[in-house]
Amino acid sequence: MSEKEQVVSALAAALPDLGAAEIADKIERPKDSKNGDFAFPAFFLAKTMHKAPQMIAQDIVAKIDQSGFDKVVVAGPYINFYLNKAKVGANILEKILNDPEHYGEIDLGHQANVTIDYSSPNIAKPMGMGHLRSTMIGEAIARILEKVNYNLIRVDYLGDWGTQFGKMMAAYKMWGDSQEVQDGLKNDPINTLLKLYVRINTEADEHPEYTDAGREWFAKLEHGDKEAWRLWRWFRTISLQRFQRVYDMLDVKFDSFNGEAFSAQKMDEPIQLLRDKHLLEKSRGAEIVDLDEYNLPPLLIIKSNGTTTYITRDLATALFRKRMYGHAKSLYVVGAEQEVYFKQLRMALKKMGFNWWNQITHISFGLMNLNGKKMSTRKGNVVSLEDVLNDSVDLARKQISEKNPDLKNPDEVAKQVGIGAVIFHDLKNYRRNAVNFKLEDVVKFEGETGPYVQYARARAESILRKGGIRDFSNVDLSQVGDEAWELISFLGQYSNAIKRAADNYDPSVVAKYALELAKKFNQYYAHHRILDNDAAQPARLALTQAVSDVLKSALALLDVKAPDEM
Ligand code: ARG
Repeated sequence: MSEKEQVVSALAAALPDLGAAEIADKIERPKDSKNGDFAFPAFFLAKTMHKAPQMIAQDIVAKIDQSGFDKVVVAGPYINFYLNKAKVGANILEKILNDPEHYGEIDLGHQANVTIDYSSPNIAKPMGMGHLRSTMIGEAIARILEKVNYNLIRVDYLGDWGTQFGKMMAAYKMWGDSQEVQDGLKNDPINTLLKLYVRINTEADEHPEYTDAGREWFAKLEHGDKEAWRLWRWFRTISLQRFQRVYDMLDVKFDSFNGEAFSAQKMDEPIQLLRDKHLLEKSRGAEIVDLDEYNLPPLLIIKSNGTTTYITRDLATALFRKRMYGHAKSLYVVGAEQEVYFKQLRMALKKMGFNWWNQITHISFGLMNLNGKKMSTRKGNVVSLEDVLNDSVDLARKQISEKNPDLKNPDEVAKQVGIGAVIFHDLKNYRRNAVNFKLEDVVKFEGETGPYVQYARARAESILRKGGIRDFSNVDLSQVGDEAWELISFLGQYSNAIKRAADNYDPSVVAKYALELAKKFNQYYAHHRILDNDAAQPARLALTQAVSDVLKSALALLDVKAPDEM
């Protein structure tokens, strides 16, 4: 039973007419701990009970079983509950230490399936900052939802279809044999393909036949031409290999890479459905779905030249995912600039009669701005994400070697700290806010950073190594004393933070929790000699272990590693 539940059940016994949920709803947490750990206001009962709130409060207190509390007192119209801290604290620590990996879990999802569409870069183009944000935010949300017992299906919906691939093929056929292109494809395939694409677009102004060639190649692709598909597969493979390097750095693994091309083969169904329901309207040669009733721009389904569009593929994707995974939620982690687009997608599905249209949620996020000069670029004129991550690792390595020159595995730790720093920085504020990225602010051991949290945990681990105890099963945990109460009660709020993060798809709640826990532990450490050899030492070490466990767990939810030493 949580502490709050303890209060609810004590009150419920004295107030048989009220439901537990209603009581729980009214319970407050006093700002000042002088007023107890929980408070229950009695004034809302005055009307029904025809009595002054203070009298009501007194009556209730007289009926309450106070054995589980230090005291229960009336203060004006409030009943203040003071927990038996030693007992409650020992319970929290015991729960953590017994099963650190599962601590904080709650069953909100009952194993229901959730698809999450994130990262989703476009092939033959470098992965952009927006895709990096999508990857980090999506992965954190996936992990948080798993923690509350959903079953996650991670989909990297590659942008691997569209007329641009026809152009790329035409360009490759014309210029691909040159040594420059051949070398480029070996060393930097994505930017080389991009250059080919830019070149054909620029030169098409003077050579309209290039545009025709591109159109022809795309038509070949649509009609299953062997050579076109070979090229397409090859573009896709070299792009994915490149993306995979970033995914490996971030430790992100997808269940599916079915992208737009996969859906492009399944478009008959949504188009037929739209036709059957008379939702397709002709408009200047194109076919559209009118969304005026929702104050949204119309959806372009089939262009005047007969080709389908990005949203037609997304409609097919949505139908496929629902059928394939029977999801309870279908999430799309995509930048805020596509907000209108996802509204259109939802409303189109609604018009088509799918009652699950509202399972689709667009998890939008703001831009990431790069301020630091260093962040501009090493190679091309687009910021390479690998460079961002590598620069961060380099800076982390430098700082670690100053702080801890004797570290045994500095490269491994530098990676965990450098990459963890980037991820943490991305996630610590609400996702819709823009992120300012300046390497020196990100990889810092002080302030609201990932390394600060990692360092607090490494400190806890170092204390534990010195303390030499790791088995706390026979330790009297209540001996930590009231001074540890704030820290312990905060440990007790972990699952609350997880729930809030899950409800709002908001990893920043977990990041802020981790920061606060690290801060509280550092304060405790500054004022208490954990390793002092007195009777309470084992209990203090148990507390240290619990803090370390929960910090590690919170960081893991954000996809940030927790080195034991740094
Ligand atoms: N490839 C798209 C882009 O780079 C993102 C795809 C998001 N997912 C989706 N099902 N539309 O903007």
